[in-house]
Amino acid sequence: MDWRGRRAMSHLLLLPGDGIGPEVTAETKRVLEVLRLPGITVSEALFGGASYDRLGVPIADDVVQQALDSSAVLMGAVGGPQWASVDFAKRPESALLKLREAMQVYANLRPARCFAALAGASTLKREVVEGLDLLFVRELVGGVYFGTPRGIETLANGERRGFNTQSYTSSEIRRVAIIAFELARERRGQVCSVEKSNVMESGVLWREEVQKLRDERYADVELRHMLADNCAMQLVRDPKQFDVILTDNLFGDLLSDLAAMSTGSLGMLPSAAIGDAGKPGLYEPIHGSAPDIAGQGLANPCASILSLAMALRHSLGEPQAADRVEQAVEAALAKGARSRDLGGDLSTRAMGDAIIAGLK
Ligand code: NAD
Ligand code: IPM
Ligand code: MN
Repeated sequence: MDWRGRRAMSHLLLLPGDGIGPEVTAETKRVLEVLRLPGITVSEALFGGASYDRLGVPIADDVVQQALDSSAVLMGAVGGPQWASVDFAKRPESALLKLREAMQVYANLRPARCFAALAGASTLKREVVEGLDLLFVRELVGGVYFGTPRGIETLANGERRGFNTQSYTSSEIRRVAIIAFELARERRGQVCSVEKSNVMESGVLWREEVQKLRDERYADVELRHMLADNCAMQLVRDPKQFDVILTDNLFGDLLSDLAAMSTGSLGMLPSAAIGDAGKPGLYEPIHGSAPDIAGQGLANPCASILSLAMALRHSLGEPQAADRVEQAVEAALAKGARSRDLGGDLSTRAMGDAIIAGLK
């Protein structure tokens, strides 16, 4: 599939954000500079807590507009304990949800690949993860993250009640499922659709719509359905049984963090959020701002650098540069470059150096 816009010049908007976000994005910027791609212009804007502290809002309207006007957006991470008591709507995380919604990036691709050199770095046994190559297609602009009604209310008896709504329409399910089936066709031709149809009506609809779509248009793709709790177990038992996992916003969030450990570290997993063809994509590591290690130069920049590769391939019209970046990461790991999360002692900067040294 090709989601590229047809323009002569591409623009990349960087949103470094909070915590380790700016640290990992700094290494990605260095990679981009070394690539020397004259067709790509780059700019940077405030996002998340960094924006809230300066402007009183976690994302300014003009930054949303800049994102919509770009070919791709590359985000670092948002959030942190210093904003935990901020009004919910002004929290750094709400900026990310607002941006995803504004950009209508409904399909979040989260590839979990275990690089050969890292097969021993996972907490799972080598034979369980060696050669792993699975792809999550997570619905990103619907479900319980966005459903209404939502809120916290005080009941007549003085108790407080917090509530959210899980809701999906058939078209919301179908458009993300189309992406999963199309991508499966380019891979091993298998989709596993994950929900909780045993307890949730939205899960029943999800299962029915995905099956219907497959029967109508994707008979060549193998489809199976799995309940989300079983999927969590199967991802630890035998993650290599999966090719494409299609799931909703919340389950996709949880299961992709879980699967990250098969690749060695949460710091390895990139992502691409895409919508309709020709629209800008939103690229981000799947990890957060890691307040426990922020500011210490300990973060692994691989997820951010691999997110750049996804942006180069899917939105910036530079598939060869994307290959070069991925190969450079692989080469650095093969030579033994390891940040602390991977069991080594290289700093964020030294990991960046090792990857840049491997850029051909
Ligand atoms: P987290 O992903 O930030 O960190 C979880 C654990 O993984 C931590 O121990 C952290 O040190 C480690 N880790 C994460 N990325 C790493 C990297 N690149 N290198 C080495 N180690 C890494 O999750 P959390 O601690 O639950 O959340 C912290 C904050 O980040 C919260 O405010 C949360 O809302 C936010 N968050 C943001 C995003 C995002 O911006 N896309 C994603 C997840 C969480
Ligand atoms: C992610 C994050 C976000 C999510 C938060 C920060 C809104 O955990 O991108 O995985 O839950 O989608
Ligand atoms: Mn998450």
